[in-house]
Amino acid sequence: MCGIIGITGDKEGMVSRLMAGLTKMEYRGYDSAGVCISHPEGLDVKRSEGVLDNLKETVKDMKDGTCGIAHTRWATHGPPTEENAHPHCDPQFRVAVVHNGIIENEVQLRQILIEANNNDCFKSETDTELVAHVLAQELDAECGDVVPDDEQLLAAWRRSLDRFDGSFSLAAVVKGRSDVILVARSFSPLILAHNEAGFLASDVSCLVGMVKEVCFIEDGDWGLLHKDRMELFDSEGNPVSRKSTKLQWNEEDAELGGWPTFMLKEINEQPAVVRACLQGRLSREALRGVKIPYKPDLVRIIACGTAFHAGMMARHYIEELSGIPCIVDHAHEFRYGTPAGPKALVLGVSQSGETADTLAGLMTAQERGYPTLSIVNVETSTIARQSDAILGIRAGPEIGVASTKAFTGQVLGGLLVALRLGRLTNKVHTEELAVISNAARRFPNAMERLLASTQLEQGLKRARRLFHDKNHAFFLGRNSSYPIALEGALKLKEISYIHAEGYAGGELKHGPLALIEDGTPVVVISSEGIIQQKLFGNAREVSARGARVIMIAVEGDEEAAAHADVVITVPKTHPLLQPIMHNVVCQLLSYHVAMDRDCNVDRPRNLAKSVTVE
Ligand code: F6R
Repeated sequence: MCGIIGITGDKEGMVSRLMAGLTKMEYRGYDSAGVCISHPEGLDVKRSEGVLDNLKETVKDMKDGTCGIAHTRWATHGPPTEENAHPHCDPQFRVAVVHNGIIENEVQLRQILIEANNNDCFKSETDTELVAHVLAQELDAECGDVVPDDEQLLAAWRRSLDRFDGSFSLAAVVKGRSDVILVARSFSPLILAHNEAGFLASDVSCLVGMVKEVCFIEDGDWGLLHKDRMELFDSEGNPVSRKSTKLQWNEEDAELGGWPTFMLKEINEQPAVVRACLQGRLSREALRGVKIPYKPDLVRIIACGTAFHAGMMARHYIEELSGIPCIVDHAHEFRYGTPAGPKALVLGVSQSGETADTLAGLMTAQERGYPTLSIVNVETSTIARQSDAILGIRAGPEIGVASTKAFTGQVLGGLLVALRLGRLTNKVHTEELAVISNAARRFPNAMERLLASTQLEQGLKRARRLFHDKNHAFFLGRNSSYPIALEGALKLKEISYIHAEGYAGGELKHGPLALIEDGTPVVVISSEGIIQQKLFGNAREVSARGARVIMIAVEGDEEAAAHADVVITVPKTHPLLQPIMHNVVCQLLSYHVAMDRDCNVDRPRNLAKSVTVE
């Protein structure tokens, strides 16, 4: 969601440092942005509607300083206008606040503040502005007009925080105290760090290149960030110190490196992701490194969006390889749904490790007494730290908002968990494991061959034309290619804004067939075995009603061409891995269709990279 950053130090250059941080974090939200420099004589706030480039213009002549906070917004309260952009101030410009999250008792607070002041005191529709008003009120009560010392700042900050319900990471600066930033964390992530200055951020990726170690403060922590130290308290008001950990990634990992977009770069990184994710993990002994908290009777997978589709793949693997029944739920549904079942293991899947719904689902599971395991990319994330055990997918930073390489890593993570469970239930024997691990070893090379093939390039060229001027599309799969159909449709809709639906082929006649008309593009994720003929049947049904079929088939499939307008083939691999290969074609198809429509594939409208609000 929104991204926040703050720096306090001795050196000037704060405007450009904050802007550099915002640039790395822009994928979190990009509908407006703002900066506040805290000077000894007062606060200077600049904000702009729209993408960060607009703010770059606005801050060109801004007076530099040594302390500041900044924000990139993903609107939750009020439209993306300059008035609603952060930082927000109180009417006297005594404090400025940036915020990621939601203040849930906004309505009551607003009423109280209106009664104390007047209705005109608010300049925005945001909940964040209330934080600025409350903090200013508490500072008045604490020390009047006088510049507060540390003790007074902390007292006013604590009383303010006691008045907020909801999830938030907050940073605030106060007039006259250009040496310090107030910080607080409730549910939403907040990271602090030091080198020659003190840093705070909602997202570790924006600190890459600025610091080497970071400190993930805990839920309920609050306090002061000084240039050389942090003064932190827990929710009870007890002083606490939190450990720092080494950053997982370096600066090059998060740069374009010659690619036109992050999405294309990340699609092409997938062979490397497969190698890294499976490296040293597939032998009989190495599989023991996949920490399963206990042998469950049931696995409940929880995730959102693309990670949910990866969870559906994991379900196939778990049921097939271990025989343990498995249920996949959207994390937000699980959270308010029925208990997990007897002797269940709750498996979270999340790239960012910060998705609020998945985190809340895991916490709910823990409250109900179930052990949790999470497949994550960011191994220092909140979900990683909250879970009883984790499996890192080693995909490196994923910057494109639409998840691509992380999906591949998450699916492989699911495979590793399934293999480990299969060993525990004695269903996966040494020979079968050897077959799978040999296939997995050859898989990245086959993926590279696919990515470099002219057949793919030519096929995509013909396929993307079928989407010209189209507003609806369908993706069909069956069995293990069904999650790929769902993922293909999600990718297409989120980056090209074409309405797309993924369906299990068998479902077609039960409703969606009514929507097929002349020229409707239908992508069929074919495969081998029993489902192949069924999917060919589906292709015939939609063709007969005027659809244009794009079939993604396995190399050597002679029959596919008879049922499709365009066939794109992928190298044949182990059936467990085959759907991952098909998905690469879906990713590239969506990419090119979106580019043909001049869409910003790295930053699709209305979306943000990590969804840290419910
Ligand atoms: C879609 C996409 C989202 C995420 C979802 C979960 O391309 O990226 O659907 O998959 O928001 O995010 P994580 O995996 O960070 O929990």
